[in-house]
Amino acid sequence: MYDINEVRKNYPMLNGVKMDGQDLVYLDSAATALKPQCVIDKVVEYYAEYSTNAHRGDYALSHRTDSEYENVRKIAQRLINAKSELEIVYTYGTTHGINMLAHGIKHQLKKGDVILLCEAEHASNVLPWFRLKEEIGIEIEYIPLNDEYKLTLDNFKKAMHDKVKIVSLAHIGNVLGFIIDMKEITKIAHEYGALVAVDGAQSVPHIPVDVQELDIDFLNFSAHKLGGPSGIGVFYGKYDLLNNLEAYNLGGGMNTRIECNTCYYIKNAPFKFEAGTPAIEATIGMGRAMEYIMELGLNNIHQHLCEIRKYAIDCLQNEVEGITIYNPDSESGPIAFNVIGYEGARAQDIGSALATRGIAVRTGEHCAKLLVDVLETKGTVRASLYLYNSKADMDRLVEAIKEIVKGDALDWLL
Ligand code: ALA
Repeated sequence: MYDINEVRKNYPMLNGVKMDGQDLVYLDSAATALKPQCVIDKVVEYYAEYSTNAHRGDYALSHRTDSEYENVRKIAQRLINAKSELEIVYTYGTTHGINMLAHGIKHQLKKGDVILLCEAEHASNVLPWFRLKEEIGIEIEYIPLNDEYKLTLDNFKKAMHDKVKIVSLAHIGNVLGFIIDMKEITKIAHEYGALVAVDGAQSVPHIPVDVQELDIDFLNFSAHKLGGPSGIGVFYGKYDLLNNLEAYNLGGGMNTRIECNTCYYIKNAPFKFEAGTPAIEATIGMGRAMEYIMELGLNNIHQHLCEIRKYAIDCLQNEVEGITIYNPDSESGPIAFNVIGYEGARAQDIGSALATRGIAVRTGEHCAKLLVDVLETKGTVRASLYLYNSKADMDRLVEAIKEIVKGDALDWLL
């Protein structure tokens, strides 16, 4: 039984923080999630009790850092069911991890090879591949979305061919939130000999993700979207594939020997990718955040979100005149919409009007800049939900939009 009232007690931001004088309704979790007290405590504990470097000291306090820091690899392994903790690389987040992948795999690609993306991808899963086009002449192709803005297996199959070497897709898009059939996509991609890289920034916090079950080759996700600190994430890869990637950063901690004649020898994965003093407190905090969502249960989190999301969609569709919801039946967090009753009302105007009612949403393109053309809009209002949102939050959202649309909040635009 998922007890939302108990869950909410764990979030200081939901207990006393006001926005524009009103209790905060936080609906911007696709941008970043709120932090539970246990994560805050874990980070403070490191600062207060053993704030030493990792992998560099020979005294008891630094051994504690090493063991807390390395233990997070095992927690991450459990979260995504990786075969080995050595398949877990710490990164600065999803964006960093995808850049590491694109750089690391460059020497295995050649001019004319194709990277297959889709039109809903976040800039972080587009630009690193664009740079490879500039650098080595690979080609970028896109799987088109269908009329409901979904990525279907049919469209994927039509887009697949022998020259595709990497299929790189968000498991759950950051604007529309549709869950794509990653298992089937991976099976088909592998039949063509292509590798599958997954942007899991929005999926790992929301649904059970089992990398062995899906058989995906690479996965990236960020801690801050699952309630952990920012500036830390995980890059997973099947071990041999991971170990064959070239390291992006060179420096301390990733080498075994350096000689004056410029020869140097580097460690195996995951350590070859982790040069320099890492984000120790963020890593340790990430581990606690992962444990917390596993304690709550990813299936429970998903079910709770489906329920309150459906409730909100029904209310918005039935009660708000002139609303366009772009993803009414998506299986996951975000609700992307516009209120078209006001000609010229930009998403930002609705977002600002919601903010004055204590409701935090994101508006605009949400870094998915190819998608706005598909949606034929300049931007959307995105209310993104997470495990601590309640039905009462949905009521506040619906009432606020009704008030904005019916009242005079946007009349100056007419
Ligand atoms: N990628 C984040 C978002 O979708 C920042 O808002």
